[in-house]
Amino acid sequence: MFDGDVRCLVVVGSQWGDEGKGKIVDVLARDADWVARYQGGANAGHTVEIGDDQFILHQIPSGVLYPDKQCVLGNGMVIDPVTFFEELDELKSRGFDVEGRIHVSTKAHLVLSYHKLLDRVEEEHRGRGAIGTTGRGIGGTYEDKVSRAGIRVADLADAGRLRERLELSTARAQAKLRGLGSDLQIDAEQLFDELSAYAPRLVEMSCDVGRSLHRALERGDRVLLEGAQGSMLDVDHGTYPFVTSSNTTAGAATTGLGLGPTALDAVLGVVKAYTTRVGNGPLPTELPPDEAEQLRKLGGEYGATTGRPRRTGWFDAPVVRYAARLNGLSALAVSKLDVLDKFPEVKLAVGYKLDGEPLTEFPAELSLLSKVEPEYETLPGWQESTAEARRLEDLPAAARGYLDRISELTGLGIRYVSVGTRRAQIISNQSVVIGD
Ligand code: IMP
Repeated sequence: MFDGDVRCLVVVGSQWGDEGKGKIVDVLARDADWVARYQGGANAGHTVEIGDDQFILHQIPSGVLYPDKQCVLGNGMVIDPVTFFEELDELKSRGFDVEGRIHVSTKAHLVLSYHKLLDRVEEEHRGRGAIGTTGRGIGGTYEDKVSRAGIRVADLADAGRLRERLELSTARAQAKLRGLGSDLQIDAEQLFDELSAYAPRLVEMSCDVGRSLHRALERGDRVLLEGAQGSMLDVDHGTYPFVTSSNTTAGAATTGLGLGPTALDAVLGVVKAYTTRVGNGPLPTELPPDEAEQLRKLGGEYGATTGRPRRTGWFDAPVVRYAARLNGLSALAVSKLDVLDKFPEVKLAVGYKLDGEPLTEFPAELSLLSKVEPEYETLPGWQESTAEARRLEDLPAAARGYLDRISELTGLGIRYVSVGTRRAQIISNQSVVIGD
C-alpha cells in the first residue's frame, strides 16, 4: 500500500538477496500504476504465487502479473535478450496480456552469450577465490558498460552501428578469454545475426523510460521501484569482492531509471525473519551444518535462479541496521516469519564483537567482517502456525515479541509481515506509515 503522500516507493532487499521481495512487490503493486526494475538482470529470481500458480520473474518486473500495470526495465539493468523473450513468451502462454505495457530503456546494456561464457571461465580461473556467481554474465556486462565497450538496446536500431560496436566488444572479450587461458572462439557474425533477430521486437518496446516515469509522477501516478539482490551484495557497500556488480541500494533507483533523488518518497526494506546467503563470502550468523540444513529445509532455501542451496543463519540486526543507513529505510517488511514456527526458541544477533571488544559500527572491511563474533539473544519460540494470521493481533505473543525485538534493534517500524508464499498470507500493520 502506498501511504499518505507516497507516490514513488522503492523496495530494496536489506540482507543478501532472496528476502522475498517478489512477494512484497506483488502485494504493493496492486496499488501502483507503474513497476520498474533499475539494476541487475537475470541473476534475480522474484517468486510470486497466485493461487496454485508459481511465477519466477528474472528480468520483467513483478507488476506484470496484474493486467493494468506498466512495467519498466531501466537503464541500470543488464538485459539478456534471450531469456527476456523466453520470460515474456512464457507469460503470454500462461494467459498474460503483455502487449504495450513493457517499456525497456534504450540505454540498458545487453548481456550477450560471451558474457555468460566469460562468467564461467572467470569463476573457474578464480579457483578457491570464486565468488559463486549465478553464471548469468552480469559482471562482464557491467564491466563492458563501464569500459564504454557495451552494447545498448539503442544500438539494435542501427545495423551498421551494432556491427561496429560488436567488433569492439567481441575483440575485447576474445582477448580476455585468451588471457584466461581459454581457446574458446567468439563468432561476432553469428552474434550479430542472433541479435538482429531480436532487434525489431526489443526496439519496439524501447524508449526513454526516465521521461515516461517523470511524466507519470507529474500526473500523480503511483510508481513502485523494485530492487534486485540485497544491500550486502552492493558493489560498493556490500561484502566486496563477494558481491554482485551493481549498486543494489536505494540510491541506484534514481540513476538506474533517470529520476532525480528528490523523486523518491520512501524506501521499504525487505528482510527475512532469519538470514540467508547464496554464493561465497562472510555470513556472520551462519548456522553449523545440521541446524543450517534444518532451516534450509523449513524455508525451502534453494536459489530461485540457480537452484543452489542457500546458506542459512539467524537474523542479524547489525546487517539490517547497516542496510537501514545505506538505504535510508522508512520501514521494514519481514518475510517468512512462518518458517520459524516450529522452533522452541529463536535467536537473533544483536551486535558483534571483534577481538573480544564490542563493535559499535558495522565493519566496512571484509577482513573485519569475517572475524566478528555475533552476540546472540535467545527468545522463546511460538511453536504454533502463523500461516493464517492476517493481523498482528492474530500472531502468538512470542512471535509478536520477536518482531518487536527486530523493530527495536533496527529502529524501524514493521509495515508488513509475510507468513507464507501466497498473496493473501500477509499482515499489513497500518500503524506504521511508510512515508513518515
Ligand atoms: P552475479 O550477480 O551473478 O555476478 O553473482 C555475484 C554474487 O551475487 C553471488 O554470490 C551470487 O550468488 C549473488 N547473487 C546475485 N544475484 C542474486 C540474487 O538475486 N539473490 C541472491 N544472491 C544473488
